[in-house]
Formats: sequence, structure tokens, C-alpha cells
Amino acid sequence: MTDDDRPSLRALLLAPPGAGKGTQGERLAEHYDVPHLATGDLLRRHVAEGTETGNKVAALMASGELVSDDLVVELVLAEIGRSDAADGFVLDGFPRTLEQATTAYEWGSARDRTFQVVLLLDVPTPELVRRLLERGAQQGRADDDEVTILHRLEVYRRSTKPLIEYYESRGILAAVDGTGTVDEVTARLVEIIDERLRAGT
Ligand code: AP5
Repeated sequence: MTDDDRPSLRALLLAPPGAGKGTQGERLAEHYDVPHLATGDLLRRHVAEGTETGNKVAALMASGELVSDDLVVELVLAEIGRSDAADGFVLDGFPRTLEQATTAYEWGSARDRTFQVVLLLDVPTPELVRRLLERGAQQGRADDDEVTILHRLEVYRRSTKPLIEYYESRGILAAVDGTGTVDEVTARLVEIIDERLRAGT
């Protein structure tokens, strides 16, 4: 298959905090030449710029809670609706509740733009905590202290993990080992994505 024949990728990275969604999302977006849309980055930009949205979500984000479904859905669908994301995208951090997932599915179905593949990065909890504490020490992200990291993991288990079953039942979930070097994880993801894209054409 040549690059021109290759269908545009519409993928979701679904994984707990620290699993590598942002790291791999950027790489996959570059590899498949589609935009990378990360809700955490989008929201942090609003916080840094002190927008009305940013002021609404700053405290929730710093405490590791999710921001409201309505607010995130509106932000993300506006971003995806922009023309450069029209053919494909790598989403990271959205959907992350069943409510968001059903809204995204209705939106995508109406436009023939549902996910082709949902990539579940599998990383043991102690490694997640280690990575996030290390980043906290280096970069000082507001939610990377130990108490908040453990709370974010609990929020993931409670609100986001149910999506695994949701996407499994739609036959688009692919679990990938998220340990090892960043390059190794990217190679595993690309292999699975290429397989799925080939199967879908
Ligand atoms: P978000 O920014 O999405 O945070 P998160 O889910 O907690 O994820 P992280 O960014 O911490 O981790 P990651 O999986 O992206 O890993 P990364 O590549 O960065 O969301 C932040 C907040 O925004 C939420 O808590 C919520 O308040 C709000 N929010 C966002 N979306 C929302 C939504 N849809 N609904 C409601 N609220 C929402 O890697 C982590 C570290 O590990 C990095 O230092 C990296 O260099 C390192 N690393 C990566 N890969 C490897 C590797 N293979 N080996 C060693 N180190 C690695």
C-alpha cells in the first residue's frame, strides 16, 4: 500500500495517566500525518491563557478530577470539526467517560468519522506512578504530586476504564504493551494500526 492509498487514521489512545498517550500521540500523528488532539493539552492552554474556560477548570485539573462532560465535548468537537482534522486524527484523553464516548460516537456516525481503532496502552501501576513522579520533579505539572497522581489513577479506574468494554464490544479495541522504550512502544502501535487499516480497506 502506498502512502496515497492509505486511509486516513482515526484513532483514540485510551490509557491511565502516565501510560504514554501524549508521547505516543505526537509520534503517531506525525507518522500518519494527521493532527494530534490532546484534551489535557488543550485545557492546560486555556488555564495558562487565563480564558473563561481555563478559569473554570483550573482547580478541578489541579486536583485530578475530570472537568464536565459538556465543556470537554464542546471543546473537542469544535477542534475536530476544523478542516485540518477532517480526514483523520489521533485523539488522546477524549472520550474518557461513557457519556463522552456515546456523544462522540453519535457525532462520528453522522459524519462517517468514527474511530477505526482504540489503542489501550498497558503499563503496570507502579511504573505509571514512577513516570509521573519523575515528570513532576522535572517539569512541575500541577497534578503530578503523589496524592494527586493516586487520585487520577482512581478517577481513571472509576470513570474511564468502563470504556474498555464499550470499545471491545464494538470490535475496535487493541491492547498494546506500553512498557519498554518509547521507540519500542511506537513500533508496536504502528504494527497494530497498519494491520487494522489494511483490514478495513
Ligand atoms: P491529561 O493531560 O490527559 O492527563 P493524564 O490522562 O493524567 O495523562 P498524562 O498526560 O499524565 O499521561 P500520558 O498518558 O499522556 O503520558 P505521557 O506521554 O505524558 O489530562 C489532565 C486533566 O485534564 C485530567 O485530569 C482532567 O482534569 C482534564 N481532562 C482531560 N481530558 C478530559 C476529558 N476528556 N474529560 C474530562 N476531563 C479531562 O507520559 C508521562 C511521562 O512518562 C512523561 O514524562 C513521558 O516522558 C514518560 N514516558 C512516556 N513513555 C515512556 C516510556 N515508554 N518509558 C519511560 N517513560 C515514558
